[in-house]
Amino acid sequence: MLSSYILGSVALAFVALAIRASYTWTWRPAFPKNAPRLVSENNVLFGAWQFWTDRWSFFSQSMAHSSTGNFSFYAGRNRVVGLSGDDARKWFVESKELHLNQGYSLMLGPSDDEIEDGQSIERFLTTRIANLLRGENIIRTLPVLIQHTRKNLEEFGRQQWNKETLFDVVYRWVFISTAQIVAPHDIINDPKLLRQMIDFFSSFEQNVSPTFLLFPKLPTWTAIRRFGSSFATFLRIKKIVDNRKKTGPIYGDALDFMIEQGDSEMNQIRMVFALLIAGLFNSGYNAAWLVTEFFLNPDWLKKVRQEVADAVDKAVPDKSIPFLDRLSQLKFKDWEDGFPTIDICLKEVIRIRTAGCLMRKNITGHDLVIGTETIPNDTHVMYHIKDIHFDPEIYPNPGKWDPSRFEEAKGEDKKKEHAYIGWGAGRHPCAGIRYAKLENYVLLAFFVSMFDFEVCYADGSPLKESPPTPPADLTMRAPSPPLYMKVRPREKPGSV
Ligand code: HEM
Repeated sequence: MLSSYILGSVALAFVALAIRASYTWTWRPAFPKNAPRLVSENNVLFGAWQFWTDRWSFFSQSMAHSSTGNFSFYAGRNRVVGLSGDDARKWFVESKELHLNQGYSLMLGPSDDEIEDGQSIERFLTTRIANLLRGENIIRTLPVLIQHTRKNLEEFGRQQWNKETLFDVVYRWVFISTAQIVAPHDIINDPKLLRQMIDFFSSFEQNVSPTFLLFPKLPTWTAIRRFGSSFATFLRIKKIVDNRKKTGPIYGDALDFMIEQGDSEMNQIRMVFALLIAGLFNSGYNAAWLVTEFFLNPDWLKKVRQEVADAVDKAVPDKSIPFLDRLSQLKFKDWEDGFPTIDICLKEVIRIRTAGCLMRKNITGHDLVIGTETIPNDTHVMYHIKDIHFDPEIYPNPGKWDPSRFEEAKGEDKKKEHAYIGWGAGRHPCAGIRYAKLENYVLLAFFVSMFDFEVCYADGSPLKESPPTPPADLTMRAPSPPLYMKVRPREKPGSV
């Protein structure tokens, strides 16, 4: 009797717990009736599943079913409003009320906006980042950037066939370049630590799943791996920060800069993480796509080689000096002014290969109104970059990689306001744009001057046509099947 009573009570307790857990996991706030049209697919745990797996298909279908082009859906329990069209894009990128960091918390994992020393973390990061990435710091970094780029490429050129995929190799080069300005130099100077950091940041980007993002406290395999590697990396960066506290500034790098500003240890660690993530999320893959396009478009490759030769002849005319040494002597201004062709090639790669959404959140405490529709408080707001970058009226034949779109004669990106948002726009232009462009110019100028190259599959057969961009589900991904690269050092570096 007693045992069945106990069993009954335990069963009841389990049922109560299960009801509570289901309620907690499945409850979600309703949309007000004048919010944009709610999409029909909204499953109880994940919301609109296609949002997680093939975001552009989801956006384009939902836009087509809505009379205003805007729509509402759930991502887990989170309310989300998707926007489209010219007015919505302008409102989105120029809004002072939408919060950027909180917007991305849905993809990057939970984020707080805690106040330290009387200021919000977002404000702190924005100010520091702007200072760190200003012109004189970039100028100071340039010689090291050139030295490391050249060294990495020379090492790579010694191998006939590299086991690493094209995207892994280029990601590594760009990681090293980006770390030069945003990370402690202890990382770059220690090959073992560098490898660990590269592995961590690339797996941090790749190890995401809807379950992890929506239920971060569930001990899923993704959550455990991500927590483990984040914690280990945190400890490594903390050790560097602790040591630097003892030695005082030594390298003139980002960490020294933060120490000079009197930043707390925790904020120094935060900055290193935030900047490496912001800097790496895009740069590595775009540079790898650019190498791929140069291989498939020899006419553009030739133009770029000509541009490098012209820039070198102009800045360092003495032809008795070896070409690569002359290229190494270019000043910041020579780089900024001398590479308009690489600039539009990169711009076009970003247009065609960026397959994600810009994200914000309304945390104003009140509803926001766009046209006749309402975006309730505590709601994510998203704008898909392809809405404008793949608009055939702006960019005819939008799937074709064609940098001439941006030449003055065509000026396709000038047809509408914010018609190109690959470097951000309005209130949040990319804070790292000058450095990101510089590291790409340096890498590509040296690469095309030093090597003849071939992009191929694992069996060595050459790539024949441009591979599709993998759908951006949660993060940018390398193409599948993977691509590799064969390089042959050029007999006459710098020849066209
Ligand atoms: C090819 C490389 C890159 C591309 C295509 C790119 C693109 C972008 C875009 C589109 C945004 C705006 C996001 C939004 O509106 O939601 C942005 C913001 C940002 N980027 Fe970049 N980025 C690149 C490289 C970098 C690098 C190397 C750094 C730092 C070293 C960096 C730092 C930032 C920061 C801090 C923001 C946030 C600005 C803010 O909060 O207002 N980016 N970037």
